[in-house]
Amino acid sequence: MDSREFVEELERANQEIMARMGREGAPEDSRAGVPVLLRIALKNELEAFELAAHWIPTTPELDVKLGLARQVGDEAKHYRLLEARYRELGGGDFDPRQGGYSPLFQYLSGLKTSVERLAAGQFTREALAQRRNEMFIEYLLALGDTQTAKIYQETIQADEGYHHELGKTMLLKYATTPEHQRAAREACRRTLEIAEKLRAGAIAKTGAYQIPGC
Ligand SMILES: [Fe+2]
Ligand SMILES: [Fe+2]
Repeated sequence: MDSREFVEELERANQEIMARMGREGAPEDSRAGVPVLLRIALKNELEAFELAAHWIPTTPELDVKLGLARQVGDEAKHYRLLEARYRELGGGDFDPRQGGYSPLFQYLSGLKTSVERLAAGQFTREALAQRRNEMFIEYLLALGDTQTAKIYQETIQADEGYHHELGKTMLLKYATTPEHQRAAREACRRTLEIAEKLRAGAIAKTGAYQIPGC
């Protein structure tokens, strides 16, 4: 198939997963407060910029390399904005590297080709992040925390959208061979599987299903 059909196929798989999110119904006891969820967000932002940075030296395509470089800056900016808010809310000492990097980070950082990375890391991971952040914004607004919601509404969401679009544009350009498409399809499948498992763990731990992405 050509790259356009391929991207549409990936999009359908992502839509299916995202349509299921939010239909879980609120857990009975929500033990989470905003700082608890911001800790998860901080870890995700950290892993997002570190992953993009990790890929830069081994990316041969100049436009992909530059896209990753911009993403590193964006995710680091998200980290700083959320960290400042976390402190304002009285969140205690926290180093998101504690407990090690997530299984999703470990899986994604092992991907070797740009097409796999773009499909799993930008196209899929960033689409999930946007959807998850949307749910988190609703949660924040329901609590009356408009300050934290504003950070997502005014800055983070537009950037995550840009990262997803970067994945899409670059896949349309580079996902042209059946071998690359096959590997990328598998990388997306694994990414969705691992991300869902991690999200289920976070829901069980926090009692909230509005787990922010990156
Ligand atoms: Fe992002
Ligand atoms: Fe981010």
